[in-house]
Amino acid sequence: MLEIAPETIQWETLDFGYIDTGKSFRAYYKDGQWSEGEIEASKHISISEASPVFHYGQACFEGLKAYRTKKGEIQLFRPDQNADRMIASAERLLMAPYPKEAFIKAVHEIVKANAEWVPPYESGATLYIRPFLIGVGDVVGVKPAEEYIFAIFVTPVGPYFKGGLQPFKFLISDFDRAAPNGTGAAKVGGNYAAGNIASKIAKDNGYADAIFLDPATKTKIEEVGAANFFAITKDKQLVTPKSPSILPSITKYSLLEIARERLGMEAIETDVYVTDLAEFSEAGAMGTAAVISPIGSITYGEEIYVFHSETEVGPITRRLYDELVGIQFGDVEAPEGWVQKVEC
Ligand code: PLP
Ligand code: COI
Repeated sequence: MLEIAPETIQWETLDFGYIDTGKSFRAYYKDGQWSEGEIEASKHISISEASPVFHYGQACFEGLKAYRTKKGEIQLFRPDQNADRMIASAERLLMAPYPKEAFIKAVHEIVKANAEWVPPYESGATLYIRPFLIGVGDVVGVKPAEEYIFAIFVTPVGPYFKGGLQPFKFLISDFDRAAPNGTGAAKVGGNYAAGNIASKIAKDNGYADAIFLDPATKTKIEEVGAANFFAITKDKQLVTPKSPSILPSITKYSLLEIARERLGMEAIETDVYVTDLAEFSEAGAMGTAAVISPIGSITYGEEIYVFHSETEVGPITRRLYDELVGIQFGDVEAPEGWVQKVEC
């Protein structure tokens, strides 16, 4: 019995939280092969207490969303990119990757099965899709598992940063989320465990989240909590950090293309030094959950850098937001292959 029924949800005030929809996708890897994969009617997974996911962090995940269009259809944004990134994350942790075509098919299947949970168009909410892969089985010595579970749950969500499209303040942390040759570019659970303390300190002090610096030199902007960073220079160039220890954000690569092809801007990945922050006219965080969240200010020690305004969204940030979100919800024509319709 579900605790909440979709027809009772106030979509407009929904948080970024978990709601059990009653249907999840599961596939099992054993003896060198994946099971067919099917929809199961429980949020619980029963696994050995000796599973490497519990002790040695063999866990990676993805995050994408299903969007309700004006016509009432459901569409996905670039699920093929999530499939590829999850394979890369799995390979980094020596886990059995879940095949790309099977991943995309499973995402379609689980969204179709949960179609009533995809929030209405213009409600401000979406269906968040969380594929994950864990190492299971009886393992005690430090080594990779021989058995894996690939699963997907979905949950309707509101904005990641409370308050919608408005500028947020961030705090640069002393902590690192990843090491120079570590797992920063993979979407693995351990990175998030390592970053929680920075996030807690930032939130306890009234900031939306923490910003991490590069772990090798501590001079360059790395990531914004669970999103990538961008800034707009005074001559209207979009810049975003280039680093081997940040997550290659699908939203980031999409925005680089949108900025170049649709807004006629120069858009580059490069080193973004903290000492350059004063040179930017706008800044923001970008990611599936964060969408585009404007950054009003960044605090670094005693310094506070303000971008555009602490209360208003900058004009380029707004144009990027409108174009990206327009594509995701089907209001703006998508570049070839960027959206997939879920056949319900
Ligand atoms: N960086 C981190 C650490 C993240 O967790 C995410 C979220 O997925 C991103 C960046 C943004 O990536 P994407 O745009 O693919 O969601
Ligand atoms: C996403 O944007 O999908 C993320 O993974 C962020 C998440 C950790 C909440």
